[in-house]
Amino acid sequence: MSEAPIATYARMDEGTVEDYAIMASYKPANLAAMPDRLMGLLVELGDKADGSPLDGYAHSLQSATLAYHDGAEDETVFAALMHDIGQVYSEHNHSEVSAAILKPYLSERAYQVVKHHGIFQGYYYFDKIGWDPNARDAYRDAPWYDDCVRFCERYDQIAFRRDYPTKPLEFFEPMVRRVMRDARSVPGVT
Ligand SMILES: [Fe+2]
Ligand SMILES: [Fe+2]
Repeated sequence: MSEAPIATYARMDEGTVEDYAIMASYKPANLAAMPDRLMGLLVELGDKADGSPLDGYAHSLQSATLAYHDGAEDETVFAALMHDIGQVYSEHNHSEVSAAILKPYLSERAYQVVKHHGIFQGYYYFDKIGWDPNARDAYRDAPWYDDCVRFCERYDQIAFRRDYPTKPLEFFEPMVRRVMRDARSVPGVT
């Protein structure tokens, strides 16, 4: 069996057209693996203890289930499912980390909703930790403001019920693959 070809440059500016063609040939397989990678992050959320009534995995599934039953379109259900995956990597700005990871698969509006959901979520509890619950007001003129309010109100801040009939990841899996596949041709995604 022949070994898979690899580029040979030591500096990127010395890479040849052939080198970059070799690397491009890996792209389809790596893109195809990405849904499983992101769903793996979701499962990882379940391993992170944070004192919440529900772990991050269960909360994410419940959030997506709420969006689904609300009749939300695929992109919003996808965003609800994945909005907290940044918590795997960051304890400080998980909303921005989630949004950065999901950016290739989201419209600008949905991207902004995920990116700012942490601040908008604060409307429901920042007063209990000495922060400003109206911090979201700074974005009142943003075209996605109402979407972010709705997202937090309907799908995020209420998604901590231990007795809610939450759908399993398998239910959402085809939707995840569909949303991510459809976004693969987004210009500028490198
Ligand atoms: Fe969050
Ligand atoms: Fe959340």
